[in-house]
Amino acid sequence: MKRGVLLTLAVALAAAAPPPPGALVCSGCHAATADPGFPPIAGRAAAELEAELLAYRAGTRPATVMDRLTRGFSPGELTSIAAYWAAQK
Ligand code: HEC
Repeated sequence: MKRGVLLTLAVALAAAAPPPPGALVCSGCHAATADPGFPPIAGRAAAELEAELLAYRAGTRPATVMDRLTRGFSPGELTSIAAYWAAQK
């Protein structure tokens, strides 16, 4: 019995791709139930999310916190984070 439970757990963990570094801090503000000031990001098109994140980083999109936050990441890291959130529900 115990081995069966462990196997199920291992399969479940393998099925979920590990989030890229930094991707989990986003959910603190962008949870599905968050208030309208924090738009949901899960399941949105990856290219759209990436473009917004890069614009925040470049300072070309108005922001209160996202400009500072995205500057902590390289453009490549933001691409990975955008892909991760696009794949979430
Ligand atoms: C401290 C709270 C906070 C955290 C953490 C945070 N965000 Fe945001 N996010 C905001 C706010 C507030 C806005 C609205 C723009 C602004 O004021 O900076 C926003 C806007 C956005 C938008 C634009 C949404 C739209 O439709 O206009 C995207 C995309 C986004 N955030 C992605 C992310 C990602 C990816 C992360 C994790 C790396 C993240 N955010 C972490 C607060 C946060």
